[in-house]
Amino acid sequence: MASTSIPDFQQHLATSRSITVLSGAGTSAESGIPTFRGAGGLWRRWSAQDLATPQAWNRDPGLVWEFYDYRRQVMADKGPNPAHTALASLEQRWTDADRGFNLVTQNIDGLHAEAGSKNITRMHGSLWHIRCLDCGMVQHNRTVPITPAFEGAGDPDPNAHAKRFSAADLPSCNCGGTQRPHVVWFGEGLDPDILEAASLAAMNCSTFIVVGTSAVVYPAAGLVPLARSNGAIVVEVNLDSTPATQHCDFVFQGKAGEILPDLLAVDPV
Ligand code: OAD
Repeated sequence: MASTSIPDFQQHLATSRSITVLSGAGTSAESGIPTFRGAGGLWRRWSAQDLATPQAWNRDPGLVWEFYDYRRQVMADKGPNPAHTALASLEQRWTDADRGFNLVTQNIDGLHAEAGSKNITRMHGSLWHIRCLDCGMVQHNRTVPITPAFEGAGDPDPNAHAKRFSAADLPSCNCGGTQRPHVVWFGEGLDPDILEAASLAAMNCSTFIVVGTSAVVYPAAGLVPLARSNGAIVVEVNLDSTPATQHCDFVFQGKAGEILPDLLAVDPV
């Protein structure tokens, strides 16, 4: 049975030589960004699982770009919440004390970096980067709409008038190739270097903090038992129980933005 004692967790945390955090969509929920499996997860009649796939791209890349352009519109004016800030502040204290800190995130919204987190492994890519399908070049890009053709597009209403986009409407690289969102889609493998970095961070930490993830999407979800079996104390912060809960030494149920600032207000000793 996992402990819910804040003082006991803080006593452990203070002596932790290395912390790894695994974050998911729930970390950004209080910033106003819908989670994947919660309410508000549909765009028109599709879930992210329907459109974030190579098959959807091959069928209709304009529709996939319209969906991502909408997500970029939604996220463009959102900022970090106290959960992001508490994690960035924890990293600062741990790196100042020459101790390890890794933040592994499944989120593509960029809010951890905006809050000041530095050592970030983005397992699922970034909404603010695009990649050329021909030359592979990855570019930072915050232009919304992504091209002028998408001006006024993206309405999430299921009855929205659906415009069809042609190849010429899509963003293109200097080399002439079409650019796609630099995110990992369902059915695609993760970059092996990123997976290795995330796995090492899970294996080599003494504290593993799991925040706001349903812990059902692999390989990210597999990091929790990996950390535990390598000796880490595992703590979960989530509104609900998840498949990760069984691997936890500490469980704190509630909103990450309300729990983390106090829970992590610890100096390394
Ligand atoms: P999910 O939408 O699956 O899960 C969000 C989790 O956050 C749930 O367990 C909620 O209970 C919890 N939650 C919601 N609000 C919260 C709050 N304020 N504080 C704490 N917890 C809260 O999101 P992920 O687990 O991130 O993959 O989803 C994993 C991956 O599946 C995503 O990265 C994405 C998705 O499909 C790709 O796009 C490849």
